[in-house]
Amino acid sequence: MIGVFDSGIGGLSVLAAVARALPCPDFLYFADTAHLPYGDKDDDAIRARALRIGRYLAEQGCRPIVVACNTATAAAVAALRDALPRVPVIGVEPGIKPAAAASKSGRIAVLATVSTARSERLSNLIRRHAGPAQVDVVPCPGWATRVETLRLADPDFAAEARALLEPVLAAGADRIVLGCTHYAFLAPALAPIVAGRAELVDVAEAVARQCRRLAGTGGGEAGGSGEAARPGRLTLAATADPDRLRQALTVLGLESLAARFNAPAILAKV
Ligand code: DGL
Repeated sequence: MIGVFDSGIGGLSVLAAVARALPCPDFLYFADTAHLPYGDKDDDAIRARALRIGRYLAEQGCRPIVVACNTATAAAVAALRDALPRVPVIGVEPGIKPAAAASKSGRIAVLATVSTARSERLSNLIRRHAGPAQVDVVPCPGWATRVETLRLADPDFAAEARALLEPVLAAGADRIVLGCTHYAFLAPALAPIVAGRAELVDVAEAVARQCRRLAGTGGGEAGGSGEAARPGRLTLAATADPDRLRQALTVLGLESLAARFNAPAILAKV
C-alpha cells in the first residue's frame, strides 16, 4: 500500500497522478484536516505533525510514503527519513528545475505558502536548480484554505490572484511554479490570468514517475502480467471531518479516485 499525506485535500492532486501511473497498488490518503493550514505554522509544529502521520502510515504498512505537501516536505522530510529508515519517503518540491530549464525569458516565479516561501529548503533549491534564471518567490497566504473550502473560482479570487501575479508577469516571468499541492486545483482560475505570457508548472507527474521507479515494474502497471489487474483500492483518513474528503473527490473532478473508494472514510486520532 502506498501512503500519501497532506494537510488537507491538496495532496489529492498528487495522489491522482500517482494513481494514474500505478493503477494496481492500494492507497491510503491521509489528510491532517484538524491541523491545517500548515503554511502559517512554524517548522517545529509541522515536523511534529509529519512525524506522527509518517509513523501512523508506516504502521499501516505503507511503503513508500509520499509527502504530498511542499510545506511538510520543506520542514520535515529529512526528519521523516531519519525516523523511518526502512520506509522510502518521497517528498514534493516546487518545480524550480523544470521551470528554469523551460524558461525563455530567464525569469520564473514560484507561488508557495508563507512557510515554504521563507524555508531554507526553497532557498537551497533555487540556489541548486535555478541556474541563471531569476526567481521571484510569491507567498500566497489563504490560498490553501480557499481550496479546502472549495471556493475555487470566486470572482474575488481572480482579482486577488491577478494582483499577486501581475508584477511578476510584467517583470517577464514566463513560468509560474505551483509550489503548494493545493494550488493545482486553482490552475483553472490562474490559467486565464497568465495566458499568453506564462505557463503554470506543477510537479505531480514527476512525483508519480518517482513513485513508479520506487515501486518497480512489478508494483503497479495494470495488465503487466497479461491479466486484467484489479484497480487498487483507496482508503481515506483524516484527523477531522473525514467525509469531506469523499465529497471533495467529486467536486474536484477526481472521479477515477472516487471509483476506487468503497469504505467509510476513517477519522484518525493521530
Ligand atoms: N498542500 C500544502 C503544500 O503543498 C500545504 C497547504 C497548507 O496546509 O498550508 O504546501
